[in-house]
Amino acid sequence: MTGPVLRALGLRRRFPHPSGDVEVLRGLELSVDAGELVTVSGRSGSGKSALLALLGGFDSPDSGRVLLGGEPVDGAPPWHTCAVLPQALGLAPELTVAENVALPLRLQPGGDRDGIDARVAGLLGDLGVGALSDRYPGEVSFGQQQRVALARAVSGRPKVLLTDEPTAHLDAASKPAVLRLLRRCANEGAAVVVATHDDEVHAAANRRVRLADGVIMAASG
Ligand SMILES: Nc1ncnc2c1ncn2[C@@H]1O[C@H](COP(=O)(O)OP(=O)(O)OP(=O)(O)O)[C@@H](O)[C@H]1O
Ligand SMILES: [Mg+2]
Repeated sequence: MTGPVLRALGLRRRFPHPSGDVEVLRGLELSVDAGELVTVSGRSGSGKSALLALLGGFDSPDSGRVLLGGEPVDGAPPWHTCAVLPQALGLAPELTVAENVALPLRLQPGGDRDGIDARVAGLLGDLGVGALSDRYPGEVSFGQQQRVALARAVSGRPKVLLTDEPTAHLDAASKPAVLRLLRRCANEGAAVVVATHDDEVHAAANRRVRLADGVIMAASG
């Protein structure tokens, strides 16, 4: 029997603030299986991004644990294990669009140049930004950067994909390709967690949950 790929157990996270500490996560529990796309909704400031930072090993909980493949997460795992598309994207400005997307593949052992180039071109083409391959992130729009950052997150076929508001800057025409790609990642076996306010993303999910009062609740509607 295989258990969940990703588990959050009793996560607590408090941030200091001059007017009183904010306890953002209060014993949060979440399990995500391989092949499952879970969307996390919740009001602005409810802690969705804070949760993804903990799940991705970029932040540490005050108490509780994150397990990835049954092993405790201690620092950010390699991209082919867990890839993160943060709200702020985090593209490398000195690398071209194509070089950014290729980065996780180049960091994996055994990748051949032609295979990497084909994967990068395929992803960028699927997302409608293939013509931008040789530009630098500063030379493309934010919505285009967002799709490039998604292509980079998925290029190494990670076991876990964490994405934060991946459709926030997209127009209606660009969104279906992003939804298809997220769905494809889950269908190919990744555990996918998407923080989003977007009903169209929720509609593509296997399961919708809501973050409120520092814990996960079943989403309504
Ligand atoms: N590093 C930090 N230091 C202090 N406070 C923080 C930090 N990170 C998050 N917070 C606080 O934690 C709360 C949750 O923030 P978070 O960014 O996770 O919300 P969110 O649900 O992602 O909101 P949005 O929908 O606007 O992206 C907020 O009150 C925020 O101010
Ligand atoms: Mg956020």
